[in-house]
Amino acid sequence: MDNAKKDIDVINQYTGEKWYYTDIVKDHFFNPRNLLWERPKDESEYDAHGMVGSPACGDMMEMWMKIDKTNEKVADLKWKTFGCASAIAATSMFSAMVTENDGLSIEDALKVRPQDVMKRLGGLPNRKIHCSVLADKAFQKTANDYFRKIGEYSKIVVDGARVIDTKLNITDKDIEEAVLEGAINLEEVQKKLKVGIGSPEIITEVEQLIRFYKDKYYG
Ligand code: FES
Repeated sequence: MDNAKKDIDVINQYTGEKWYYTDIVKDHFFNPRNLLWERPKDESEYDAHGMVGSPACGDMMEMWMKIDKTNEKVADLKWKTFGCASAIAATSMFSAMVTENDGLSIEDALKVRPQDVMKRLGGLPNRKIHCSVLADKAFQKTANDYFRKIGEYSKIVVDGARVIDTKLNITDKDIEEAVLEGAINLEEVQKKLKVGIGSPEIITEVEQLIRFYKDKYYG
């Protein structure tokens, strides 16, 4: 964490782990940009809507987007969540990044990765990285909703789960969630999921997926 303060912000009462939040994280948590406390009264003012729930912690994230029709850029991105402080700070930063300087095109906004948001925040505690992914996933859903409304079906990204371990019915999404919860090698993922135990033929694929998601979320 580049911008870490010396003072400990939170001590996890179960693990004793010390968490630090940067001043930027605190600013976005205490003064979230583009946050809605309530659902918009008139949703038709917005061009698209998306919602996701996080299987990792049960929290949800909802977004509403306005597009500037003259240049197809993101003019406004409002959001509402029951996520934690890190989710609030990360989504606040994400919404600022895609709307600042006249906004990004949807294609460019979709390229903003959780680690780009983390960099602008100066980092998050490791266990909180999965919280920053809620914004990314909710935005993908919102963009899909927009593409569907304007008939650009080929741009819709479908996040379908694929079964990797047929004996235990474990999907690539389960492996993704395990990585987001901090399991970043085969041993740690197997502690959570038992994936591949009894099916040695799938271990290479499981390891590839762990590497892929580790790279995607932790850079
Ligand atoms: S959003 Fe669930 S723990 Fe942060």
